Amino acid sequence: MTGIEELLLSRIRDVADYPEPGVMFKDITPLLADPAAFTALTDALAAIAASTGATKVVGLEARGFILGAPVAVRAGLGFIPVRKAGKLPGATLSQAYDLEYGSAEIEVHAEDLSADDRILIVDDVLATGGTAEASIELIRRAGAEVAGLAVLMELGFLSGRARLEPALQGAPLEAL
Ligand code: PRP
Repeated sequence: MTGIEELLLSRIRDVADYPEPGVMFKDITPLLADPAAFTALTDALAAIAASTGATKVVGLEARGFILGAPVAVRAGLGFIPVRKAGKLPGATLSQAYDLEYGSAEIEVHAEDLSADDRILIVDDVLATGGTAEASIELIRRAGAEVAGLAVLMELGFLSGRARLEPALQGAPLEAL
């Protein structure tokens, strides 16, 4: 394990049986509260943004906002929030996706994305991949290109990477 991987991992707290019994929640608040760790994470994600040639950063609500916004600033790029349905006031594109029980919907302001854009999607966790898959679809429907997906952590046992492979169409998936 590299130094940065050790640092980041040491600042993620496992919380058993949250938000429901049987789930091990990955709490990133200790990492956010540690300026050295948060800066190292931001720098690493900004380096990915640069290496993918991204023109903008999309953050996925809500923890993807916390991680993605400083990455955009550090990389000198614009930031676009992909929000849960009903939160954006302008003309939106919406994408529904299935959850284990029921469904969810995410939205983006259509005017924030254009055919000239290459988007790096940033989020904290890749679990089943449902949220990321819907965001990829949303970005493509808005006419922009997906430059890659960068997450702090990937829960490998949920096979999100395999699920996303067709949607990513060769764009990189980086998990720190
Ligand atoms: C979590 C996480 C990712 C998503 C990953 O967000 O931050 O966005 O779930 O899960 P998936 O790969 O199975 O789609 P959550 O919906 O809990 O929202 P929050 O960040 O607002 O708490």
